[in-house]
Amino acid sequence: MERAVVMLKIVTVVGARPQFIKAAVLRELFESSPDIKEILIHTGQHYDVSMSDIFFSDLNIKPAEYKLGINTGGPGQTTGRMMEEIEKVLQIEKPDAMLVYGDTNSTLAGALSAVKLHIPVIHVEAGLRSFNKRMPEEINRIMTDHVSDYLFCSTETGVTNLQNENISKNIFHVGDIMYDATLKAIRDFGSNVVVPGVDLSKDNLAICTIHRAENTDAPNILKSIFDYLNEQTHLYEIILPLHPRTEKALKEHSVDVGNIRIISPVGYPQMQALLAASKIAFTDSGGLQKEAYFHKVPCVTLRGETEWVELVDAGWNRLWTSEEFAQPRLLVEEYGSGDTGEKIVKYIKEYIKN
Ligand code: UD1
Ligand code: UDP
Repeated sequence: MERAVVMLKIVTVVGARPQFIKAAVLRELFESSPDIKEILIHTGQHYDVSMSDIFFSDLNIKPAEYKLGINTGGPGQTTGRMMEEIEKVLQIEKPDAMLVYGDTNSTLAGALSAVKLHIPVIHVEAGLRSFNKRMPEEINRIMTDHVSDYLFCSTETGVTNLQNENISKNIFHVGDIMYDATLKAIRDFGSNVVVPGVDLSKDNLAICTIHRAENTDAPNILKSIFDYLNEQTHLYEIILPLHPRTEKALKEHSVDVGNIRIISPVGYPQMQALLAASKIAFTDSGGLQKEAYFHKVPCVTLRGETEWVELVDAGWNRLWTSEEFAQPRLLVEEYGSGDTGEKIVKYIKEYIKN
């Protein structure tokens, strides 16, 4: 006699660009698992077509079941309104678990809404720390980790960070889900990608992104970054797909971008093509630091610290405030082999029961 499949219901909350990319990997795996049903909530934190819809269409992500459209007001107000709406969805859907990615306001809203209803929380990309509590992301990740029941870490350092905060149960080092996404993009799009207005065959390209609040909201730092980048234009043609937050800050603080080539935010395949074609990356993005490594492109991090310390140790990454990359350049094994999504699904099936 055939046994009925017991369906595990997971509600996932996403809201910001990097989360759509990570969710693309797991959503496809969940779709092909007959015993898991995923309900996706898009908080609306990112809402421009180039910051949201483009990822759903390019990466063929099944549309969110719930779109909350919350993106106005201060951080506390938006996080609070997200919680209010997520709670309503949780009361309707009654899931077995809540899954959140990373460290955005949407992550925190998802985690807190679930924990208040005693729904177990799964945190993907747990344990990262910058040890800089002025970063909104640092607060979001500490809070999320401390209410999570299952913590999936990209790195060994992530595991250690959690243990140092006395979190000891259900921590899994599974590798980095963004590596799965990059490998998939290379498989699916290969070299057939065009970036309008950029000649990818040039041999001195450098990709750059800037969006961190600590950089955009401090006029002096923002100006210093652009001065630094302009010094680098003697060596490189720097292409900067501009985050809307940075676009506003540049205008507000009247920053001269000099010789940097500004373009609109690009889709994921275009960003992978830009990285692959670049000699170097300049960025304050968490995701881009790793993707630069996946393409074996050295990266200069435009911040005072990084959560991805293994890249610095392995000589692929340096802070812009330090002179040289560490030598020799080594491989970083701990991001896995592109099977992070599969490992997460396996552990979810093994550990979470309905
Ligand atoms: C957020 C995350 C950050 C992540 C980044 C990914 C938090 C605290 N920060 O930062 O960790 O690295 O997303 O990109 O959650 N805006 C638009 N259109 C959009 C999206 C944003 O115009 O589609 C503008 C709005 O003016 C908004 C500002 O950008 O107020 C900042 O957006 P927000 O989502 O608050 O933070 P990010 O800087 O994008
Ligand atoms: N990205 C993109 N287009 C862009 C800029 C970034 O597709 O114009 C992708 C990038 O390849 C990476 C992710 O967005 O996968 C990183 O997001 P972001 O830098 O916004 O956030 P962070 O990783 O810092 O949280």
